[in-house]
Amino acid sequence: MTQDQAQNGSAATPVIEEYTLSDLQSLLERERDGRPFYAVDQIRDPRTKRKLIDPRSVLTAKAVAFMYESWNLSRDTVIRVTRNLEALENLEDAGKTIHYFADQLHRYLMAIFTTEKPSYKAEVQGLATTGNEMLNTVFNYENIQEALIGPDDLRPFTTYYDHLVNTTVLWMGTFAALNRKNESAAGSIEVWRTRNKSELRTIIGPYGTLPKDIVTYYDIYGIDRVDDAAAVNKKSDLSLVMSGFFAALFHDLGLLEEREILISREGQISDRLKTHMDQSNEILKNRLAVLYDERILVRSIIKTHHERMDGKGYPKGKNDPHLFAQILAVCDLYDEYCSKFVRSKVIRFLARAAGRQFPGEIVRAFLSILRPFEQGEIVDVFEGKGGKPVMQASITSIANRFRPALKVTQIMDPQFNSFDAQTLDLAQDENIPFFI
Ligand SMILES: [Fe+2]
Ligand SMILES: [Fe+2]
Repeated sequence: MTQDQAQNGSAATPVIEEYTLSDLQSLLERERDGRPFYAVDQIRDPRTKRKLIDPRSVLTAKAVAFMYESWNLSRDTVIRVTRNLEALENLEDAGKTIHYFADQLHRYLMAIFTTEKPSYKAEVQGLATTGNEMLNTVFNYENIQEALIGPDDLRPFTTYYDHLVNTTVLWMGTFAALNRKNESAAGSIEVWRTRNKSELRTIIGPYGTLPKDIVTYYDIYGIDRVDDAAAVNKKSDLSLVMSGFFAALFHDLGLLEEREILISREGQISDRLKTHMDQSNEILKNRLAVLYDERILVRSIIKTHHERMDGKGYPKGKNDPHLFAQILAVCDLYDEYCSKFVRSKVIRFLARAAGRQFPGEIVRAFLSILRPFEQGEIVDVFEGKGGKPVMQASITSIANRFRPALKVTQIMDPQFNSFDAQTLDLAQDENIPFFI
């Protein structure tokens, strides 16, 4: 990228230099006096350049500067350090689909909330492992694709258990997309963390020792813990991601018993909705004290998942919810509304809410991972404000992901009997009154 392009915010792909472990090692060996460093993923707000995810480390900036200096790189270059380049390919596992992970999460949720046990440590570990696997496979920052999550990937919405699972899947996808998007920011750095403990030691400590204050990949329930658990900084970046994951998974615990999905509309917020955030946290405290006590962020996200950037949310009307809570709010609304309205309507609603109710960047990242329709899928077609479908059609082309082309298969409203067009391309202006 040239300086001009960088200044104009051009979307040109930045230069990415790949480095292997041995490069990193030899660099570490040279840094004798400095403290051992590690590098973290960062997300920066594209406008303010403020760090949205704080890597909680003074070492990071120094380390990053050092790497750029040592390798004599321009700040427009993104450094990507990988364990080894083949390792990335090995992590792709075709059998692990989004659906597979959704089922897995559902099983753990049911195990925790429908059986009485003194502790649910194993389940929490299982959940964390599943969350990490999701990030390593389907939502890997390397692999995250456009239009990844289709309606069939999520669970059919029958209870709040399904809603919690769906919201979590969408949250992870949106987070990964957002992270991927910001990764190209000049000077950002991505490090492939290893799962192998001995290898980790060589990465992080030039002398093979695990420094006391190191934040590692291991600071995640379920995978492993570093030797000295007390030394683990609980606010490591990946822990932060996991806090968002757990918050999405438990955000509506207070509503688990509800048979119907409760939806908040402006000006009509029931007492039940006003209090369910606190109830969710209460249930978390009783069932999963380990998460409640140790992860302040989880509680805070649960508490603020209905706040909005325009200050019209509830319970407090705060206008600056945490980034993770804002991602959650978008995913939550989508899944809840999809239980009541046709998807295209929900998507339109979200698109209109971008920049007002929710940050535009989050809505865009969310829509980018959504695969709203499948080719061949049969859909109901509505017209104007009508609540009943006027015809049925099958999807013939999804060139426009949200306004696909249709083949009319059945007329359902006699008013449209004279409608002789066989095909209905929703992307065309004259077809704007129709929606699916
Ligand atoms: Fe909620
Ligand atoms: Fe919800």
